[in-house]
Amino acid sequence: MKITNGVQWLDTAGNVISAHGGGFLQKDGYFYWFGENRNGKKLVSCYRSRDLVNWEFLNDVVTMDTHPELNPSNCERPKVLYNEKTGKYVMWLHWENGIHYGEARCAVLVSDTVDGDYQYLRSFRPLGHMSRDCTLYKDDDGTAYFISAANENADLHVYRLTDDYLDIAALEKILWAGQKREAPALVKRGDYYFLVTSGCTGWEPNQGKYAYATSITGEWSELKNLGSPTTYDTQPTYILTIQGTEKTTYLYVGDRWDPSDYHNSTYAFLPLEFEDDTTPKLSWASTVEIDVETGEVTTEVQESGLYRLQVNMRYLTVEEGQLKAARLSYANENQLWEVEEVVPEIIRIKHHKTGKYLQPTAGSTEDGAHVELADRADSASQEWSLYDTGGGYVKLQNRHSGLALKVQRGTEGPIFQTEMNPRRYGWWDEQAFLLAKVFK
Ligand code: GAL
Repeated sequence: MKITNGVQWLDTAGNVISAHGGGFLQKDGYFYWFGENRNGKKLVSCYRSRDLVNWEFLNDVVTMDTHPELNPSNCERPKVLYNEKTGKYVMWLHWENGIHYGEARCAVLVSDTVDGDYQYLRSFRPLGHMSRDCTLYKDDDGTAYFISAANENADLHVYRLTDDYLDIAALEKILWAGQKREAPALVKRGDYYFLVTSGCTGWEPNQGKYAYATSITGEWSELKNLGSPTTYDTQPTYILTIQGTEKTTYLYVGDRWDPSDYHNSTYAFLPLEFEDDTTPKLSWASTVEIDVETGEVTTEVQESGLYRLQVNMRYLTVEEGQLKAARLSYANENQLWEVEEVVPEIIRIKHHKTGKYLQPTAGSTEDGAHVELADRADSASQEWSLYDTGGGYVKLQNRHSGLALKVQRGTEGPIFQTEMNPRRYGWWDEQAFLLAKVFK
């Protein structure tokens, strides 16, 4: 049986699986999946599966009734470890008060059974540090680590836990200070640990990166790109290790958040392959078939041939004939574009739904001129030269007017042209567009 990525998944009872920002635990031939559930008073739900395809709902292991501090609250990225010494299951998560993200605390819960009702212990800032996106990791010797985004998400902290996993023992490392990494997921392969993270752009997908080290508390490598500039429209949450009789397979688990509708968010399980001991490679797969006995995995890719045009973390869309830069919405077909190559480095941009072409408003060559959709592609007005600005982003210069496509910073309003700005790329650059492939 195959996993189909990027679509809603149902549990064995036919209900949508609500387990985002998930964490996994393997026990007695089962994979247990814990994740965020934002329906009603639910907070964390637990499912289990033997084959990673059929998921049986077990319990809403944390709800708003679990503890007064959880009603209301926002509980994100729950992760669970089993503690061999105490025989208890320990959950850590990112806790917020349900109103805003300013509390920046973690919370710890504990249970005697894997899918039991977890007992809420407390929320706190580890050693006084802000703590948002997080993960847990148990090392080979049983030592557990809590990794979380600190200092307004600028730095990633690695804390060692106490032997019972219920508290912080020490802050061991501050990783990539100022580089704003979040959504951490840690895995070990051979002699190397790999830490996969995303950038900090809220629900909008961005370039995933990885780093490696031979010890969690040792020196970590620089950050290197993993996957596409949108990490195939996902954000990391976990890396599963499937130890088969033939091979060990590593599965990247990502959330495909829908920034326009949280409940339309989906998941992707993607094999993390290795080119050599320190070079993981993540590719898109429309479907994944895993034999959990042998560890063998086969994938299929369906090329969509479509693109989304992202600028300033907003997406070029057409609303009532007007061009806008809007929030990403996977349900909105007006955000889909085709890219036609005229000659290398010169393209036409065709709106998929209407078949119309992007061009400057007729006759105008002035700075600030608007753009519109043309019925036909018959002149240089519908042609755009690409200027690589790094990170997969390009500037688009109109072949007729010589002006560049841009969106006003901070607006979701109309897109317009303006003088070509050779400024270096930063993701706030309103002229830098990502021709983001659509991964189905
Ligand atoms: C993301 C984070 C998610 C969630 C979201 C809220 O950056 O990874 O877990 O907190 O922001 O905007």
